[in-house]
Amino acid sequence: MYKYVYSFKIQDDDENYQPVVLVTGCSSGIGFALARHLISETNYRLVLTAREKSIGVLQTEFVESDRVWILPLDIVSEESRLRAVKEIFKRWGRVDVLINNAGISYRSVLEEMLDRDELLQMQTNYLGPVGLIRLLLPRMRQNGRGKIINISSVSGMLAMPTMASYSASKFALEGAMEALWYETRPFGIDVVLVQPGFVRSRSHERVKYSVRSRVSNSNASGKARPYTTMYRYMAHFIGRMMKHGFATPDSIAHLVLYVIRTKQPPLWVPAAFDAEFFYYLKRFFPRRLVLPFFYWFLPGSKNWGSGFTRKRRRRSLLGRVWDRVTTAREESHVN
Ligand SMILES: NC(=O)c1ccc[n+]([C@@H]2O[C@H](COP(=O)([O-])OP(=O)(O)OC[C@H]3O[C@@H](n4cnc5c(N)ncnc54)[C@H](OP(=O)(O)O)[C@@H]3O)[C@@H](O)[C@H]2O)c1
Repeated sequence: MYKYVYSFKIQDDDENYQPVVLVTGCSSGIGFALARHLISETNYRLVLTAREKSIGVLQTEFVESDRVWILPLDIVSEESRLRAVKEIFKRWGRVDVLINNAGISYRSVLEEMLDRDELLQMQTNYLGPVGLIRLLLPRMRQNGRGKIINISSVSGMLAMPTMASYSASKFALEGAMEALWYETRPFGIDVVLVQPGFVRSRSHERVKYSVRSRVSNSNASGKARPYTTMYRYMAHFIGRMMKHGFATPDSIAHLVLYVIRTKQPPLWVPAAFDAEFFYYLKRFFPRRLVLPFFYWFLPGSKNWGSGFTRKRRRRSLLGRVWDRVTTAREESHVN
């Protein structure tokens, strides 16, 4: 939809220009769809990457050739990043388009994360991608061209409960890329943040849990914990939103291809209607009301923390009746 609203100018490239495109995290979801779409573009030289443990997926699905190369790359490891970039420069001498796609998402409230979980979240979604950018920038600057495309998220503009760390990592990426946009503009390098909202895919099955959030989520101990209700409603809500999401890995891959071909694409590219909607909602809704509105809107929020809160609550008789009716309705949705 975005391309019909904003007129993107297609880049006028030399016929012999065969850009080298490097994609991270190609073993599943958006990265996998990107690999499939990019392979059909015969004028690109591709470096499709995945961690050692998942590289087999790429080797079975794609055939290497003089323009398709499958390479191991763990975005978290500095050594792995250096090795991959060195090998690419040795073979093709350049990377024209970097697609920072690899990412993980913790499903945990902030209180139940450990330092090591926070670090892994930041290393994968922020430190790794910027580390890779740092290695590629000098060569892009030398060539006077380049595109750095990051798969960000609506979570980089709006945070959601039970996804604090994930949001923090995407906010960090968004902030750094905004600065980078200015820093690379004089050298002909474009920086883009593609922002998907809820994507109709199975990636919610791959979310990570901290030790404590796993217990709270599963309620395995049988004892209610302060965040159990919040997790239950949020997991159900996110699952449902993803099931009915506007975007799919294929539609995002299609959009990224469009961005690659575009001359000076904008920094922010919302990937579907929901991303656009949340952006305008946050921008034009009175700031003071945004969070209370979302709190009210999120399912079951009035029950979150029930049994654990010491917050004083006064409800009128009518309010209590209304609470009962809506709780019964929400319970019937969840079960
Ligand atoms: N799905 C959504 O609803 C959604 C919404 C907004 C934004 N996004 C963003 O879109 C991007 C792709 O997500 P997805 O939905 O396609 O998720 P996905 O299916 O879970 O794919 C994530 C990919 O990242 C790879 N990866 C994880 N850690 C890595 C590491 N250390 N080094 C290299 N690769 C690593 C995974 O490889 P392994 O197989 O080795 O684990 C996998 O191929 C992410 O940045 C995500 O934040 C997704």
